[in-house]
Amino acid sequence: MSSHGAPIPMTSRACGALTGTAHVPGDKSISHRSLILGAMCVGETTITGLLEGQDVLDTAKAMRAFGAEVTDHGNGRWSVHGVGVGGFAEPDQVIDCGNSGTGVRLIMGCMATSPISATFTGDASLNGRPMARVTDPLALFGTQSVGRAGGRLPMTIVGAAEPVPVRYVVPVPSAQVKSAVLLAGLNAPGKTVVIEAEATRDHTERMLAGFGAEISTEVTDEGRVITLTGQPELKPQHIEVPRDPSSAAFPVCAALIVPGSDVLVPNIGLNPTRAGLFTTLREMGADLTYENEREEGGEPVADLRARFSPDLKGIEVPAERAASMIDEYPVLSVVAAFASGKTHMPGVKELRVKESDRIDAMKAGLAANGITVEDGPDWWTVTGLGHGKVPGGATCASHLDHRIAMSFLVLGMATQQPVSVDDGGPIATSFPIFEPLMGGLGAAIMRTDA
Ligand code: S3P
Repeated sequence: MSSHGAPIPMTSRACGALTGTAHVPGDKSISHRSLILGAMCVGETTITGLLEGQDVLDTAKAMRAFGAEVTDHGNGRWSVHGVGVGGFAEPDQVIDCGNSGTGVRLIMGCMATSPISATFTGDASLNGRPMARVTDPLALFGTQSVGRAGGRLPMTIVGAAEPVPVRYVVPVPSAQVKSAVLLAGLNAPGKTVVIEAEATRDHTERMLAGFGAEISTEVTDEGRVITLTGQPELKPQHIEVPRDPSSAAFPVCAALIVPGSDVLVPNIGLNPTRAGLFTTLREMGADLTYENEREEGGEPVADLRARFSPDLKGIEVPAERAASMIDEYPVLSVVAAFASGKTHMPGVKELRVKESDRIDAMKAGLAANGITVEDGPDWWTVTGLGHGKVPGGATCASHLDHRIAMSFLVLGMATQQPVSVDDGGPIATSFPIFEPLMGGLGAAIMRTDA
């Protein structure tokens, strides 16, 4: 089942060269944060380039339920009239975050230190994902939570009426957990300190500073020590959301495996906490160049140019790079199928608790299409067959996971036989223009009857 309706089966078959320019949508992580931080200021925040995927639309709806005025002006232009730090109203309805782990975890954080309660739910995927990783640190502020067994949604959060600041060492490499604690720390008096051993995406820290919060990051032997001073008055901003490197990954990887391709993907943020995939692809021998490198809004940005790469080689992907490409492993495993030799991907336990268990989901679908995958609790290895040699021909389960669905559709662009997915519906959560965008480059993706 797709997250918001009947399943949408899709099939992708080998096509001619992919060529042209692919303007991918706005960054999902930054889009969620723009709406949430906008809701925590008094005054009007304006946003351009917002990702209008279902995940972000669900966050917009949630911010309205907490009292912010969120307006869609068309074409990715949005405004948020916020209620200020500590100004959230108690929602009179259940907050449905759909498929979005980022949405629910960040929103839990930002309401956790206000004297209000809220009940959260989501689709079957989200309701199966662990929330204790967020409610455990929130409890240190004085927040209470009651959910289903194993800390699953639906769950009610009772915000702390008199929050205390916390010092928290994040036990898993997760920007969602780090961000939930920082957002909760906004309405606690004094200094909240979050320590992460491995650097994860730092959009929350950068954006909090942009909104005028007092926040600093120090790199120590313990890792990154982030200190936030609570109860600031956040100042409304104008935010231009950069385009999403995680969405850019799909046209880039497709171009590398489809013979003759040459695709330009402009304006992609190359924040080092997000760009691990592109480094990895270059190490595999990908013809991937950064053109027009520049800085925008304090972030490195470039136009990516990806061309068919006949000599891809399997590599060892460094475990310490995992956090900077955590959402890109599914599509990397597709590229690895067309490389020669093995691609070993260690240090990726977190892949097991995403929208699906992404190692299991990719292993099953790749195996059905003729590719051998070995795995353990926190690693997996794909044995590549080389260009032109991947059989394909099977239907893969997407498990309510947008990135699994898109990865298998990319696979089918270069296999001997077409590849199908049982449900492409979840693609709309992060990349609603995936089909026309890929079709515009020359891909042959069809909706097929159930
Ligand atoms: C995100 C963090 C990552 C990532 C997700 C977006 C964010 O999750 O997988 O798609 O915006 O903070 P984790 O923090 O659980 O690793």
